Amino acid sequence: EPTKLWGGRFASGPAEAMAALSLSTHFDWCLAPHDIAGSRAHARVLHQAGLLDADELERMLAGLDVLAADVESGAFQPVFDDEDVHTALERGLLERVGTELGGKLRAGRSRNDQVATLFRRWLRDACRQVASGVLDVVDALVSQAAAHPEAVLPGRTHLQHAQPVLLAHHLLAHCQALLRDVARIRDWDARTAFSPYGSGALAGSSLGLDPEAVAAELGFTGAVDNSIDGTAARDFAAEAAFCLAMLGVNLSRVAEEVIIWNTAEFGYVVLDDAWATGSSIMPQKKNPDVAELARGKSGRLIGNLSGLLATLKAQPLAYNRDLQEDKEPVIDSVEQLGLLLPAMAGMLGTLTFRTERMAELAPAGFTLATDIAEWLVRQGVPFRVAHEASGACVRTAENRGVGLDELTDAELAEAHPALTPQVREVLTVPGSIASRDARGGTAPQRVAEQRERVVAAVAEH
Ligand code: ARG
Repeated sequence: EPTKLWGGRFASGPAEAMAALSLSTHFDWCLAPHDIAGSRAHARVLHQAGLLDADELERMLAGLDVLAADVESGAFQPVFDDEDVHTALERGLLERVGTELGGKLRAGRSRNDQVATLFRRWLRDACRQVASGVLDVVDALVSQAAAHPEAVLPGRTHLQHAQPVLLAHHLLAHCQALLRDVARIRDWDARTAFSPYGSGALAGSSLGLDPEAVAAELGFTGAVDNSIDGTAARDFAAEAAFCLAMLGVNLSRVAEEVIIWNTAEFGYVVLDDAWATGSSIMPQKKNPDVAELARGKSGRLIGNLSGLLATLKAQPLAYNRDLQEDKEPVIDSVEQLGLLLPAMAGMLGTLTFRTERMAELAPAGFTLATDIAEWLVRQGVPFRVAHEASGACVRTAENRGVGLDELTDAELAEAHPALTPQVREVLTVPGSIASRDARGGTAPQRVAEQRERVVAAVAEH
C-alpha cells in the first residue's frame, strides 16, 4: 500500500495524470543520501527535544542505516506512487522500522524545509566536484604553458593579427578566467552554507527543535535566519546556475580557439587521436568534437540559467510547487560539466602545438608596428606622431610586399627622421616580446611569474 504523506483530508487518491505530473523521483532521487543524512540529524534533535526516547532514537538510526544501504545498493527504489524522494524514503523507513516509530520522524519538518536543505547540500557537493574538474583543466593548460616557455604566436584583437605574444601567456589568460570560476563557486558556497531545516512549511517549528544542531551535523555554517526565506529562496540555485553557465562560457572561449587553431588555415595544433573523432564518410577527417561540444553545451548551460530565473520570477512567498522546477536545470548543468571537464582537460593536455608554424605567423600582418611607434616614443617623439610614422612604414612595406624589418634605411628615415636603423632591434618577435616586461606582460620573465602564481592558486584550492 503506497505511503501518502497527505492522505487524511482526501476521499480519493490522485488521478493518474495528476500523479504523473507531480512525480519528481526520476530527478530528485540524487537527493536520497542527503535526505537520509537530514533524517538522522532530525531524529537527534527530536531526541534532544524529548520527542524520541533513547531506544527509539537508536532504532530509528539503525533503520536509516539499513535504508541508506538499500538505497545505495539499489535494493530500495522509488515507485510510481512515491510522489518525490521524501515520500519514497518515508515509505522505505516505515517498511524498515514499522509505522509507529517511523511515523514519528516527520514531526517538526516539512518537505519544504527538507528539499531546500537537501538541494543546497547536494549542490554544494556537486559544485565542489565541478571546481576540482576545473582545476584539472587549469593544470592541463599550465603544463602546456610550462612545456612551451618560448613559443610565440600572433596575438589577436578582432581576430586580426595584433601583437606577438608568448603561447604560454595566452594559455595562462584562459587559466585566469577558469580560476575566477573556481573562486566564484567558493564565494557562492559561503553564501549557500546555511540550512533551512527547521523552517517547517514556512513558519518555523513549534516543537523546540534546534535548527543549528541539524545545520552543524549536515555540514552547514549555520541555520537560515528566516524560515519564510529558508523555504522560498532559490537564489542559491540560480547563482549556482550562473556560476556553471559562466564556466561553460569560459570553456567555450578556449574551445573556439582550439577549433580555429585546428583548421588547415591556422594549423597551430594537432589533436591527439584519443580526443578527436572521425567522419563516417570522409576518411581524412579528424574533428575537434570535444571543443565543439564545449561550445554547444555552453548554450545549454545558459538556457538552464535563464529557464530557472524565469521560473523564479514573481513567485510569491513562501513555497510554491513551481519550485520543484528548480532542480532539473541545475542538475543538468552539473551533469554536463561532469562530462565536459575531464574531456577538456584531456584534449588540452594532449594538444601538440606546431610552434614553427605559429612563429612563422607571429610577425605577419605587421604585428611589430606598435613596437616602431613605442621605440620612437622612447626617442622623445610624441605618440601621435610616432603612430603616424609607424603607419607610414606599414604602408610602404605593404606596397612593396615586404615585412617591416625589411624596410631600407632610407624608407625608415622617410617615415620619420628619428627612425634610425637602431629601430631594427625591436623589429623582431623576440625583441618585441622581451620589451613588454611590465607586470602581466608577455616578456618571458613576467610570463614565468604569472605561471608560478597560477600554480600557487591551484595548489591553494
Ligand atoms: N518535491 C517538492 C520540491 O521539489 C517538495 C515537496 C513539497 N511539496 C509540497 N506540496 N509542499 O520542491
